[in-house]
Amino acid sequence: MSTSLAGLRIVVSAGPTYEDIDPVRFIGNRSSGKMGFAIAAAAAQRGAQVRLIAGPVHQPTPRDVQRTDVRSAAQMHAAVLSALPADVYIGAAAVADFTPRSFAGSKIKKQPGEEGLTLQLVRTRDILADVAAHPQRPRLVLGFAAETDEVERYARGKLERKRVDLIAANRVGVEGSGFESDDNALQLFWPGGERALGPASKQVLADALLDLIGERLAAMTPLASPRTDQT
Ligand code: C5P
Repeated sequence: MSTSLAGLRIVVSAGPTYEDIDPVRFIGNRSSGKMGFAIAAAAAQRGAQVRLIAGPVHQPTPRDVQRTDVRSAAQMHAAVLSALPADVYIGAAAVADFTPRSFAGSKIKKQPGEEGLTLQLVRTRDILADVAAHPQRPRLVLGFAAETDEVERYARGKLERKRVDLIAANRVGVEGSGFESDDNALQLFWPGGERALGPASKQVLADALLDLIGERLAAMTPLASPRTDQT
């Protein structure tokens, strides 16, 4: 039987972000949102109160899930932070790392004789790291890591750097798994442990991931009991 998550407030981010260059062009990525949507659906089925912050995707809203649609990394950042407090944050979105320094209000035209165009990009704010450092930090913060090689080294680096509790790493560029596929394989890392999940459908993986989240929450030190000292 699967672990109940009744009463837990879970915030999930899913999908890509689109960073607008001008009114007709943007920088995006190939994330379909399927993994995050599968997690949100499975968590709601287990009785959690689920907020889903979705980038631009073509996915139906899962039952009993409260969804907010956003477009850019900056909008996703604002929506995720305003969904706190929560007990668990699952950062499954493929957030753009860079965004155009400025938005061109009208369509950028080719100029005669112009051989190239340089776009200036600036870093986006890291939603996952900001959630992990937030005064209303969820008890458990989980990030994803799409890597093409040295999966464990980069995943463990991310655990420490972003101060998160769990990293779900998947190797991208492997046939039949990753971004646009219905199937995936995940390698979960936490301080002192790891577990391989799949290859399996994203629905099966979502359930296994929620089982692990239930286990990790149970293994964590219980919240400090109310202070009894008087000031
Ligand atoms: O460092 P990297 O982008 O590989 O980390 C991926 C994880 O960080 C994912 O969980 C993703 O949702 C999150 N992320 C974020 N904000 C960003 C970039 C990545 O929350 N600006």
